[in-house]
Amino acid sequence: MMKADPAYISQSLVPDYIRNLKVYQAGKPIEELAREKGLTRISKLASNENPLGPSPFAIREMTQGLWNLHRYPDMHAYDLKKALSDLYNLKTENIILGNGSEGIMAYIARAFLHPGMEVLTSENTFIGFYIIGRSVGAQIKTVPLTHDYRYDVKAMAKNITERTKIIYIANPNNPTGTYITKNEFDELMSYVPGHVLVILDEAYFEFAKDCADYPDTMDYRYDNVITLRTFSKAYGLAGIRVGYGFGHEDLISNLTKVKLPFEPNLIGQLGARGALEDQPHLTRTIENNKIQYNRVFNFLKENGLNPVPSVTNFITFPTGSGKRSDELFELLLNKGVIIRPLKANEMPEFVRVSLGTPKEIDHFIEAMTEILPQFKLSEGSL
Ligand SMILES: Cc1ncc(COP(=O)(O)O)c(C=O)c1O
Repeated sequence: MMKADPAYISQSLVPDYIRNLKVYQAGKPIEELAREKGLTRISKLASNENPLGPSPFAIREMTQGLWNLHRYPDMHAYDLKKALSDLYNLKTENIILGNGSEGIMAYIARAFLHPGMEVLTSENTFIGFYIIGRSVGAQIKTVPLTHDYRYDVKAMAKNITERTKIIYIANPNNPTGTYITKNEFDELMSYVPGHVLVILDEAYFEFAKDCADYPDTMDYRYDNVITLRTFSKAYGLAGIRVGYGFGHEDLISNLTKVKLPFEPNLIGQLGARGALEDQPHLTRTIENNKIQYNRVFNFLKENGLNPVPSVTNFITFPTGSGKRSDELFELLLNKGVIIRPLKANEMPEFVRVSLGTPKEIDHFIEAMTEILPQFKLSEGSL
């Protein structure tokens, strides 16, 4: 038998645009930190999850579903699509479901993006989409954020060319927590040709929707826009990986052709449907978020740390340099608080903290209060 040669296979079968990708770095898991440092009090404030956990309705549905795990899920996810179509007053033909909203982004890339095509987006936005775009050989063209860390809509409009096939907008944006307004959205759309596909990633929609000038894309009918939302953030179901998208039925039907047939899985479909029934849990989540936002924002401000105003469940703030971000990350880790350095988002001189339960935010504030005198002294003031 010939000797296997995986290195040759990788060399000859994997295109450069995949070989050059870097593996996505998720927030540090609680168990890993507990193992490494022997800590018992740990607050994970690194992945913008819902600190209140899933809705009990979702848990009830999922628990009952366990008895049916020998069955394939409904490949059309009828019940979940119906619940979403009722909630948003849409036809089920306009809805696509997937393994998280990132799963749907991968299907968008599979269906609509091909080697050499150009995606236009911003610097310092959600890195998942850069990776997905590059993984199919697309070119990612970025424009810098404005001086106040917002998408620069005017610069984006100027950079639309005949090579632009897709425009990706995270609204609100991760990792800055800022958003483009109704006026800015209208302005940008006035420059977007009808044959260019716009992806509006609204993963943090539920936290931003009450801002008067936030453009809820449900109020618009652009046939070249796909809106993506998720059960991972405000609905507290990151672990079961369910995302959804809305768009014109031509676009949705092509996505459905390239989609793996049984996503979301059986438990995912049940959990998401249960979560939709529990609007009070969503309200509690948003209320807690507002309270913890004010605590963290004011604390950072009072300590001269210049947080970026956010309409999401996280706050980003500057540390002065990449070195200082790493230092702050490590100092907090030693005290059991996991935050997110933003090197991968090309904002190394910033860190991001997700808003947690009242106790987790107590922990963050206590740890920061202990760290700050030493941290400020270590390299001059911020
Ligand atoms: C802007 C943005 N979009 C999408 C996602 C991924 O969400 P999902 O869990 O639905 O794949 C995230 C997760 O952090 C995000 O911040």
